[in-house]
Amino acid sequence: MYYPITRPRRLRSSANMRRLVREHHLRVDDLIYPLFVTAGRDVKKPVQSMPGVYNISLDLLLPEVEKAVHQDIPGILLFGLPETKDAIGSGAYDNNGIIQNAVRTVKDKYPELLVLTDVCLCEYTDHGHCGIVRDGEVLNDPSLELLARTALSHAQSGADMVAPSDMMDGRVQAIREALDANGYAGIPIMSYSVKYSSAFYGPFREAAGSAPRFGDRKTYQMDPPNVREALREAEQDIAEGADMIIVKPAMAYMDIIAAVRENFDLPVAAYNVSGEYAMIKAAAQMGWIDEQKVTMELLTGLKRAGANIIITYHAVDAARWLHA
Ligand code: PBG
Repeated sequence: MYYPITRPRRLRSSANMRRLVREHHLRVDDLIYPLFVTAGRDVKKPVQSMPGVYNISLDLLLPEVEKAVHQDIPGILLFGLPETKDAIGSGAYDNNGIIQNAVRTVKDKYPELLVLTDVCLCEYTDHGHCGIVRDGEVLNDPSLELLARTALSHAQSGADMVAPSDMMDGRVQAIREALDANGYAGIPIMSYSVKYSSAFYGPFREAAGSAPRFGDRKTYQMDPPNVREALREAEQDIAEGADMIIVKPAMAYMDIIAAVRENFDLPVAAYNVSGEYAMIKAAAQMGWIDEQKVTMELLTGLKRAGANIIITYHAVDAARWLHA
């Protein structure tokens, strides 16, 4: 109807013209880099399904963190692989545990870097579930106290923000109360409010050794077809005191990112999960796609969908590409 008066191609005519009219930008400021810290010494074990990602022992951790600091990435997210596991995930809230020591080590060397910790039991329980199990059932309320203890011990070790990923009901409130009662009212909670029961976590479970030994996570993580329920989860976590909301996974859930962004005022983080990373790496290794271009297109797409923050295993690469 408007052609030939209106010609959209006029504004695509050169690189600088495209720069001028670009609507969304991926920035280094948006990125969080996840790392897997393991017990032991002198360990830097590659995760088979996630090329470029390692299980790293404490003594080798700082050089890996340095990469993020060097690229001026604002924060890292730590996951722990403990020495031993038990039914109640004791390693998760042990003040001398893997994450607690990792946080102290990193904050000691890089006090300015934001250190976030994943708060969950699945890496620490012998059954691999995110809460306490009785008669094959993952119990909600008894798990809350352990999750709150875990978050508190992370804060006591110097964590700047805690990120509960267990999906038990009421955990944000339990964690908020424990932090507030112990002098950590200033520590924010970045809640994995909208976390789906997803096959895209497969490589992570290899990386963290956290696959459930029986059953699955469908009774606590969300059912992928649901969107209204995502808004209820976010609303509930905000009411309980969440300071930021995570949507996870990212790629197959961009409508959810948009809906959460639209409905709430808090910062929204998209978690570009292990399976999304693995797919890009695999296709790039086959020579079928351009890793840098595809990654930047995806991460920018997450910004366009409404994410303010992106947690990604590609963070250091993306930052390097952005600085280039
Ligand atoms: C722990 C947790 C998981 C992820 C982050 N925290 C795995 C799971 O819920 O099974 C997944 C991250 C990824 O796939 O990159 N509950």
